[in-house]
Amino acid sequence: MLGDGQFGTGYLASDQKTGNSVCVKVFKDTGAQADKSFKIELEAGAQNLEHANVLRMLGAGRNEFVLESKPMGERFFIVTELCEKGELFDFVQDAGGLKEPMAR
Ligand SMILES: Nc1ncnc2c1ncn2[C@@H]1O[C@H](COP(=O)(O)OP(=O)(O)O)[C@@H](O)[C@H]1O
Ligand SMILES: [Mg+2]
Repeated sequence: MLGDGQFGTGYLASDQKTGNSVCVKVFKDTGAQADKSFKIELEAGAQNLEHANVLRMLGAGRNEFVLESKPMGERFFIVTELCEKGELFDFVQDAGGLKEPMAR
């Protein structure tokens, strides 16, 4: 586990095609708020911005997740590049969650 947020939890994962480490953010199953956050981030990610300070979205969808043998049910998820410690603070952590003036 990379970290826990209001709407989702970030997990460390490996991209099977490239072997790169990535982050899978699994959204919490708390209805409207988490769904809205997912949609906003999905739209932000779908713009395919190429910028050093914007995370690239690698994939997204809805899937059954099992955590420590416990089924979590169906959850939305978004896969992004991994923010490694040290770099993390230079990056906009969450492309949908930070407005430009705040990021400066
Ligand atoms: N790309 C990433 N690389 C590394 N850790 C991440 C990444 N995305 C999210 N995390 C971790 O997961 C936590 C929750 O993700 P975040 O996007 O902040 O969720 P929320 O929208 O619920 O605030 C973050 O605080 C961070 O620790
Ligand atoms: Mg957060």
